Amino acid sequence: MRLERNVSLKPYNTFGMHEEASHFVRVTSLDTLREALRTPGVPPPFLLSGGSNLLLTGPLEALVLYMDTRGREIVYEDGDTVRLRVLGGEIWHDLVMWTLEQGYGGLENLALIPGKTGTAPVQNIGAYGVELKDVMHSCQAVELATGKLREFSREACRFGYRDSIFKNEARGQYAIWSVTLELTCRNHRIRDQYGAIRQQLEQEGISSPTPADVARAVIAIRSSKLPDPARLGNSGSFFKNPVVQGPVYERLKEQYTDLPGYPQADGSVKVPAGWLIEHLGFKGIRRGDAGVHAQQALVLVNYGQARGSEILALAREIQEKVQQAFGIVLEPEVNVL
Ligand code: EPU
Repeated sequence: MRLERNVSLKPYNTFGMHEEASHFVRVTSLDTLREALRTPGVPPPFLLSGGSNLLLTGPLEALVLYMDTRGREIVYEDGDTVRLRVLGGEIWHDLVMWTLEQGYGGLENLALIPGKTGTAPVQNIGAYGVELKDVMHSCQAVELATGKLREFSREACRFGYRDSIFKNEARGQYAIWSVTLELTCRNHRIRDQYGAIRQQLEQEGISSPTPADVARAVIAIRSSKLPDPARLGNSGSFFKNPVVQGPVYERLKEQYTDLPGYPQADGSVKVPAGWLIEHLGFKGIRRGDAGVHAQQALVLVNYGQARGSEILALAREIQEKVQQAFGIVLEPEVNVL
């Protein structure tokens, strides 16, 4: 194990923030992780995976554990389904493309999501009608206090919209070590109901899409709206889409007749935060090097030298204006540190 001091985290966060970690260990095996956790006199651990859902607003006085593991293993296969155990450090999108090359279905709607496999269960990543909970069988996590490996079933993860036990009761207590995905080998379940996917496939003249067709459509849509973090610093959607009670939505709709809304099973309505932010004139605006993406108002961007505090100030300004105008509180989706 190599313990490094005062390491710049710029290469490790997609917002491109320059902040330093006081202590840093690259984790390549369970032994390295356990040794790092047992090191005397180090500050509390902080798990760093793809850094794609993180806004650093200052130096990190922490033992940063950078998850850099690789490994994919078939643990079950019966001709219809396959279970793949994947180590947390695997790049999510590379994994998605590899499963499609193997002829496995299930991850196609989740193509091009930045980050690594280990953070997928933490925030229950989702896009275009599919969430990780729909394809995850279980995951293994290392308890930071003891170094013990523990198995979590899908139910035990208590998944919700961009939410899981790892963001609540178990927050800060575990490092996700591996994720076991349950995918289809045949009779794939194609999920192309999402309007933008349908349109994209229609344009290509495809009426019975394969998982690979859906992935191509998702990649085309995402590339047209969401900035590539390698070119423009960002963390995807900065806020969650708020969920309001049915009558609250009805009242808003009287005033804002074109306000979109997605009814939920319990009668509440999910409102696209991007619409609220765009309606208030924020789309494409820039304050120094901090800005709101011109193609997707839910994405805040770093044009180069923005500090975390500047991105945060812009986020707060948006939250205030949205609350004043619509009475809706926007919650950040990104982890602000
Ligand atoms: N909209 C606007 N203006 C905008 C952006 C969106 O009016 O600038 C409205 C439109 O009505 C549009 C609707 O919002 O139809 C939905 O937009 P979009 O399909 O782009 O999705 P989103 O709700 O903004 C969510 C996820 C994304 C995910 C997409 C596709 C959250 C917080 N975000 O965004 O996830 O890729 O759906 O499923 O739920 C992420 O979590 O980082 C992320 C990118």
